[in-house]
Amino acid sequence: MTVQRTQSFDPSFIGKMKKTGRNVVIFYGSQTGTAEEFAGRLAKDCNRYGMKGMAADPEEFDMDDLPQLKDIENSLVIFVMATYGEGDPTDNAHELHEWLQNDQDLEGVTYAVFGLGNKTYEHYNAMAIFVDERMKKLNATRVHEVGLGDDDANIEDDFVTWREGFWPAVCEKFGIEATGEDISMRQYTLTVHDDEISKEKTFRGEPARLNSFNTQKPPFDAKNPFMAPVIVNKELTKGGDRSVMHIELDITGSKIRYEAGDHVAIYPINDSELVEGIGKRLGVDLDVVFSLDNIDEEASKKHPFPNPCSYRTALTHYLDITSRPRTHILKDLAEYCTDTADKEKLLAMASSTDEGKRLYNEYVWKDHRHILAVLEGIPSLNPPIDHLCELLPRLNVRYYSISSSPKEHPTSIHVTAVLVEYETRIGVKMNGVATRYLSNKLPTDSLKPTVPIYVRKSQFRLPFRSTTPVIMVGPGTGLAPFRGFIQSRDNERKQGKKVGQMILYFGCRYKDRDFIYQDEIEQFESEGTLSKVHTAFSRDGPQKVYVQHLMQNNKEEIWQVLEEGGHIYVCGDARNMARDVHKCLLDVITSLGDKSTNEAEDYIKKLQQKGRYAQDVWS
Ligand code: FAD
Ligand code: 2AM
Repeated sequence: MTVQRTQSFDPSFIGKMKKTGRNVVIFYGSQTGTAEEFAGRLAKDCNRYGMKGMAADPEEFDMDDLPQLKDIENSLVIFVMATYGEGDPTDNAHELHEWLQNDQDLEGVTYAVFGLGNKTYEHYNAMAIFVDERMKKLNATRVHEVGLGDDDANIEDDFVTWREGFWPAVCEKFGIEATGEDISMRQYTLTVHDDEISKEKTFRGEPARLNSFNTQKPPFDAKNPFMAPVIVNKELTKGGDRSVMHIELDITGSKIRYEAGDHVAIYPINDSELVEGIGKRLGVDLDVVFSLDNIDEEASKKHPFPNPCSYRTALTHYLDITSRPRTHILKDLAEYCTDTADKEKLLAMASSTDEGKRLYNEYVWKDHRHILAVLEGIPSLNPPIDHLCELLPRLNVRYYSISSSPKEHPTSIHVTAVLVEYETRIGVKMNGVATRYLSNKLPTDSLKPTVPIYVRKSQFRLPFRSTTPVIMVGPGTGLAPFRGFIQSRDNERKQGKKVGQMILYFGCRYKDRDFIYQDEIEQFESEGTLSKVHTAFSRDGPQKVYVQHLMQNNKEEIWQVLEEGGHIYVCGDARNMARDVHKCLLDVITSLGDKSTNEAEDYIKKLQQKGRYAQDVWS
């Protein structure tokens, strides 16, 4: 995610391609790094077909050069595009998205698109579909059908399967043959620093600027996070097997501004036991300080993560060691097996044969084996730690919907987070990286532990007018941003402003266990900030009761709010709840608005366009 640029900015990717003899450019729209990783893998693949590829961040180049790609022999542009939020491009692909909307002639340009999306969201792979359609419209030639990866299932499998069809199509188009050589090439060279490197010159987890954790200077953002003291960390549930944390982060003096509805990003760190486990298994001294420098001097990304740093820092702060390793990692690791059977097993899992895919799916995916579990399961596998560090993906920030309002809490940001804990199919206990990290941040009178944060602005906002009625649907931690909304309106009401109706739908399992913020909600209701609270306790009665069931019983009320120009908000689980609530809304509009399904869909689209129906959902 963090790109370290040490050389001058060259906006011409065509110039760069010509200079370095490349004929394939792979633009990635990446938010969490997966699209960037896939682009890098495609660039590597090129060698097998006598081509030379380069992964490129569209934000760093001038797209106006794209028509000139046809001047390079056997050239190809591949777009690896993630879809984000409500069908949006990722931050680094906004300009590309805009550029593609212009009229231009791309005749003679050959292209392909692979998308990264998530089926639980409404606008599945919208960005990839958009790029494909626009490229077609602008007369570019598609070499292979658009691939749509689903992060809710096994996106690695989708990518590998798409690639299987993609390369033969490229070979056919350009009349080339695979060389068959599939040599694993290191992208970075290792330097081990001896004792003389001073501590001040060594990264210790900072995402970009050296020493930024210690020398805190606003403005704070993704590259320069604020070390926020945790001033409150308390359990919100009363018994049961789920834990929901209420955390307050102090932002006094940081100049950080936020609005109710914004997200706070938290940089987590990995469990030290897991880090030590990897060091022990590989028999390495984790305190060794090292650097990895890109072999490609033209590359804008000089290092895979900030370095020099110690192996411990890399495994703790920079690398994702808990998710399931992708197939290219297994392939590159295979060469370090001393046992032929182990090597074959890894190579099989990394192959695109049906048996290989089945093996990967069972062993890595379904059993949820992280890298240490793979290393422990294959004793003859002994990769050098620096190669492992090169291969593992970056550890990403985690976002949380801010559960406070600056009107009520100008110097703190509140978070409401469920502790992620589960057991894998093979009986291994797993913890969510960020929620485990947060659960250990317990303040005492004398010590307030800190966490690196920044605020990400969102579109999820209360209506401009305080009198506009709103309906908020937020079961579980979906209540988070609504607590901020309610605090905002409560503050306005107390200041004598006229405020509109606020109707809350909240759901949880048991009223007496996980009705989070119950006292506050009841008080807001009794004081009149909340006009109505509809609660669905799914496991208290003989039958499941969900928020959408209560909405069904209150169709008239919902329709009336919509007809009065009100807003409806949904927050929480994207997988099932948001979809069911959407269906319920459609039903309200068809039945009470006397509309056909198509008309109701249109009605909903218009609500969305006007920001009157908004979702803040995650899976
Ligand atoms: P991770 O280490 O990321 O682990 C999660 C992964 O573990 C899952 O992706 C899945 O692969 C696996 N997993 C989890 N449970 C199981 C299981 N039972 N079986 C098998 N595998 C499993 N979360 C909140 O709690 N509150 C919020 O207000 C909130 N707001 C968000 C807002 C946005 C915009 C987004 C994108 C997300 C939000 N989230 C929120 C989710 C949050 O960002 C994290 O994803 C969540 O806290 C888990 O992070 P983690 O690092 O603890 O878990
Ligand atoms: P359950 O776990 O008993 O199925 C917050 O997690 C609440 O959301 C819980 O009461 C949970 O119920 C409920 N929930 C689960 N699936 C849902 C869905 N599809 N729609 C609405 N609520 C749901």
